[in-house]
Amino acid sequence: MSIKRVGILTGGGDCSGLNAVIRAVTRAAVFGHGATVIGIEKGFDGLVFNRTTELTVHNTRNILTLGGTMLGTTNKGNPFEWREMSPDHSISIHNYADRAVDTVRKLGLDCLFIVGGEGTLEIGYRLFELGIPVIGIPKTIDNDLDKTDYTFGFQTAVQVACDALDRLYTTGESHQRVMILEVMGRSAGWIAMEAGISGGAHIILIPEIPYDIESVVHCIRQRARNGSPFSIIVIAEGAKAIGGDVIVQEAASTRLQGVPQLGGVGFHLATEIRKQIDLEVRCTVLGHIQRGGSPTAFDRILGTRLGSHAVQAAAEGKFGNMVSLNTPDITLVPLKELAGVVRHVPMDSQLIRCAESIGINLGRIPAGQEMTRFDNNE
Ligand code: F6P
Repeated sequence: MSIKRVGILTGGGDCSGLNAVIRAVTRAAVFGHGATVIGIEKGFDGLVFNRTTELTVHNTRNILTLGGTMLGTTNKGNPFEWREMSPDHSISIHNYADRAVDTVRKLGLDCLFIVGGEGTLEIGYRLFELGIPVIGIPKTIDNDLDKTDYTFGFQTAVQVACDALDRLYTTGESHQRVMILEVMGRSAGWIAMEAGISGGAHIILIPEIPYDIESVVHCIRQRARNGSPFSIIVIAEGAKAIGGDVIVQEAASTRLQGVPQLGGVGFHLATEIRKQIDLEVRCTVLGHIQRGGSPTAFDRILGTRLGSHAVQAAAEGKFGNMVSLNTPDITLVPLKELAGVVRHVPMDSQLIRCAESIGINLGRIPAGQEMTRFDNNE
């Protein structure tokens, strides 16, 4: 099938590697098919309001190394549930899907590449059901998308968090403090687990395992008794104590995004530890630093491979699919299979077993072990 005009949009929160995908799609479409490439600006906003810009080999040059997305993005605009805030702060919801479909028709697109996480790709699937020839490309720092080994953006975020831990380690050890690093990830603990293991953390707290504060405190005390009066803790923003709630900065009901803004659990944990331990405790919230900056080589390659393969899939008319990393290959997965699925760190994963086998405290006492399990954790 010939693809002569294709469009691409980036939706949801940004991450490193988006520009690598935009560049790869543009080059593969132009070099392989002589196609015109239309960039849709600011996620689905550009579709609803028909705001576009042509992408060429020339204007996508030198963007491989850049963080962010040259097209802009937003995690607010869902055409099916467009949320608008009135001056009195009440939120009204509209269905603008017909506007989005109209724009695609007016632009005469043979394919629309939608780059996004679980929420954005779900919208992509709904547009596909309305007859739009969609191909999804997975991204998110959270790595919580099902049916792909990794999403690009994740590895860069882990590297940023790992670098932060290296720095916290030296200052924490020098001052003999408990250093807490709060990382992103929504309801999934992937960033916390991989950053924590790579950064030599002593305690990693993830949403999948509600933490027992007694286990955390015991670990810090034992380390101090064993001659290491400092501890490095990584906590995911979506983590919560046993019997506690996830800590939010702003509730979903007052936000245009329709989801809560997480954050603050690191400071909460610091307060709880201070109540029980006579060591200084400090908390750093890494926040959006994890989303910015130049992508790692891994994310550049993954973004480039996904973009190139997406163009090939479009030329073969394989719409309604997402390109996915199925190591070592890029394969296709029906968008339908992704709807509403969030991939968490599995309880029986090797990652969790690996962490506990080397003495990392995950905020619990591993099954069949006594509290003394961590007594030699230095
Ligand atoms: O989904 C990516 C992510 O960075 C999450 O890890 C985080 O909870 C959220 O987006 C932050 O969103 P915002 O950019 O709206 O603050």
